[in-house]
Amino acid sequence: MISQTTIGEILSRIDIVDIVGGFVKLKKRGANYLGLCPFHNEKTPSFTVSPTKEIYKCFGCGRSGNAISFIMEHEKYSYVEALKWLANKYGITIEETFTTDEQRQQMQVADSLFIINTFAQQFFTKQLFETDEGQDIGLSYLKERGFREEIIKKFQLGYSPEKRDAFAKEAAARQYNSELLLKTGLVVNRNEQLQDNYRGRIIFPVHNHSGKVLGFGARILKSNDKAPKYINTPENEIYVKSKILYGSYFARQAIDRGDECLLVEGYTDVISLHQAGIENVVASGGTSLTTDQLRLIKKYTNNVTIIYDGDAAGVKAALRGLDMALEEGLNVKLVLIPDNEDPDSYVNKVGPSVFREFVQKNKRDFILFQLDVALKDAGPDSTKKAEVVNQIAETISRINKAEDFTKQQDYIKQCSEILKIDESGLHALVNKFIRNRIITQEKSLPFEEARHHEENAKKAQETDYDDATFDLLFKDELQERELARILLEYGTRYWDDRQLIAEYVLSEMIDETLLDNPDIINLINVIKQQLQIAPQQLNKNYFIYHPDSKLGSLAVSLLNFPYEESEHWKREYSQATGYQKRLFEQSYEEFIQTVARDNDQQLMRYLKMDEDRTHEEVESALNYLKLRKIKAS
Ligand code: GTP
Ligand code: MN
Repeated sequence: MISQTTIGEILSRIDIVDIVGGFVKLKKRGANYLGLCPFHNEKTPSFTVSPTKEIYKCFGCGRSGNAISFIMEHEKYSYVEALKWLANKYGITIEETFTTDEQRQQMQVADSLFIINTFAQQFFTKQLFETDEGQDIGLSYLKERGFREEIIKKFQLGYSPEKRDAFAKEAAARQYNSELLLKTGLVVNRNEQLQDNYRGRIIFPVHNHSGKVLGFGARILKSNDKAPKYINTPENEIYVKSKILYGSYFARQAIDRGDECLLVEGYTDVISLHQAGIENVVASGGTSLTTDQLRLIKKYTNNVTIIYDGDAAGVKAALRGLDMALEEGLNVKLVLIPDNEDPDSYVNKVGPSVFREFVQKNKRDFILFQLDVALKDAGPDSTKKAEVVNQIAETISRINKAEDFTKQQDYIKQCSEILKIDESGLHALVNKFIRNRIITQEKSLPFEEARHHEENAKKAQETDYDDATFDLLFKDELQERELARILLEYGTRYWDDRQLIAEYVLSEMIDETLLDNPDIINLINVIKQQLQIAPQQLNKNYFIYHPDSKLGSLAVSLLNFPYEESEHWKREYSQATGYQKRLFEQSYEEFIQTVARDNDQQLMRYLKMDEDRTHEEVESALNYLKLRKIKAS
C-alpha cells in the first residue's frame, strides 16, 4: 500500500493539463483546454480539460474523470499503478506501508526478480548484437526468418551463448542472490554449481502490460529431438502463466484504437504481425485461454479474433475455455490460416495487405464454427447428431447476460437452421441448461462463496497491488457513505475561520441530487436542522444515540466503514508517542482545549497536519460525488 503521505504528495503535484497534455494535444479555449478525445475516434475536438476543477470530460463519448482516472483509463493501469506512474513522473519517492512482514518480503522478492530479469534481458541483447557468436548464430537466424533489426530491438530479443555459465558468471559477479536467481529460471543448480538454463537459444523477453520483464521464452536453434523447442520461465512471484498475454505491452494502444484484439499462438506470430504493421495482437502461448487472460483482454475490448493455424490440435486448444469468453460477454471470432502455415509464416509469405484481407474475409463466428466442426465429425450418425444439438445448446446457454439476450436469440435461430431442427425445440433445450446451471449454482453457493472469500483474502495478503479498496470507494453507494462518514467524524471542526466543515459541505452540495441513498439524504437533512439549532451538539454520539434508530444504525455502520481506516488507525496509534497518543484518545474538541491550554508547539503542528488531511478528505469525497454526477449526465 502506498503511504498516505506519498499519496498526498502526489496529489499536491498533479497538474491535469500537464498530465493529459502528455497524451493529447491540448489547446487553450477560454478557461479550459480542448483536444481530440483519446478514448474514441473524432475529427473535431470535444475533449475538455478544466485546470481549475482538475477534471476532464469528453462531450463526444461522455468519458470523464480526474488526472488519476485519466492515467488509469488511458494506460489501463490500476489505481496503484497510476499513482506509481505519477510518482515517477514527478520524482516522488514512494513510501510503502505493509501490513505484514510476509507481504513486505513478497514485494521485495518481486522487485528483485524484476531487477534480475532486466539485467538478464540486457545481457542477452548484448550477446545478440555485440558478440561474434550472437551475430553469427542468433542474429543471422532472426534475419533469415525475416525479422528486421528495429523489430528485434523493439521486442528486446536476445541470444543466450552456448557456454555453460555465460550468464551465471555475470550474475555472480553482480552478487545476485542465488535463491532469487534460481527463481527466475535463468540458472539451474547442477552439481552444486549455478549454470545457465538457456544455452544457444533465442531469447524472447515476456513483458507485463507496463513493459516490465516478467520472464523469458527461449527458443532452440539447433534441431534436437530431445530438447524442448521452447523453455519458459517457471512460475514465480511475477511470472504467472495463466495471467500473461505475450505482447500486451506493445499491443494495448492498437487494441484500444481498433476495438479488437487478435489472438495468436506464438511469440513469432506476434512479432511478425507487428512488423507487418498489425499491432493489436497478443499470444496465449499455445495453451487454452484462461479466465484471467480473457479478463485482461476485456479491459481493452470485447472483440477477440483468434488467428490460428488450421491444425486440429491448436484449434481444439483454442476452443477449450472459450465457454468462459461467452460468459464474460466477449464476441469471439475465429480465423484459420490455411496450408500448414501459421500467422508468422503466412504474413511473411503473402504480405500485410493480403493478410489483413484474408482475416477480414475469413472471420467466422466461433459458435457457428464449433457447430460446423461437430457436425462434420458426427456425419450421418443420428445419435451423434443429437449429442451435437445438446452440446451447442449448452454452449448457447452460457450467453446469459441480460444485455446479450438478442445475441442468444440470434444464435438459437441460426443454429437451428444449420441443424435443420425446430427453433422452439432448441430454445427449450437452451433454457433447460440455463435452469440446470442455476440449480447447481445455488446448491454450491455457500461453498463457492466461501472459496471466493478465501481467495480474495489470500490475494489481499499476497499482494497490495490490488485495487479492491479503490473499486470499493468508487462504487456509488460508498462515495455517499464516505461523505456522510466525514460529516459525522469532522462535521463540527472548522473548515476555515468562517464556517464548520458541515456547513462547508452543505454549501458545496447546492444540488442535492448529488446523493441517491435516501437514508443518507435523511441524515444530511438532520444535520442541516441541527446546524441551525445547536451546531456544537453535532458529534458522532448525537447520531449514534439518535432516537431514530434507523439513523443510529446508519451512523454506526458508517463509523465502522471498513476502508483502510482501521488498519491505518491501528498503525498510527501504535506508533504514536506522548502527545500524539493523547490526540487519538481524546475527542477532537478536548484535544483543541488541551492545545489552547498548553499552547504546545508540537501539538499545534500536529493539529495543522490533521487539519490538512481532513481538508483533503472532504474535498476528495465531494469531488467523487460531483464526478459521478458528471458521469451520469
Ligand atoms: P516458431 O516455430 O519459431 O515459428 O515458433 P512458434 O511460436 O510458431 O512455435 P509453435 O507454433 O510451435 O508454438 C506456439 C507457441 O507454443 C510458442 O510460441 C510457445 O509459446 C509454445 N510452445 C511451443 N513449443 C513449446 C515447448 O516445447 N515448450 C513450451 N513450454 N512451450 C512451447
Ligand atoms: Mn511459427
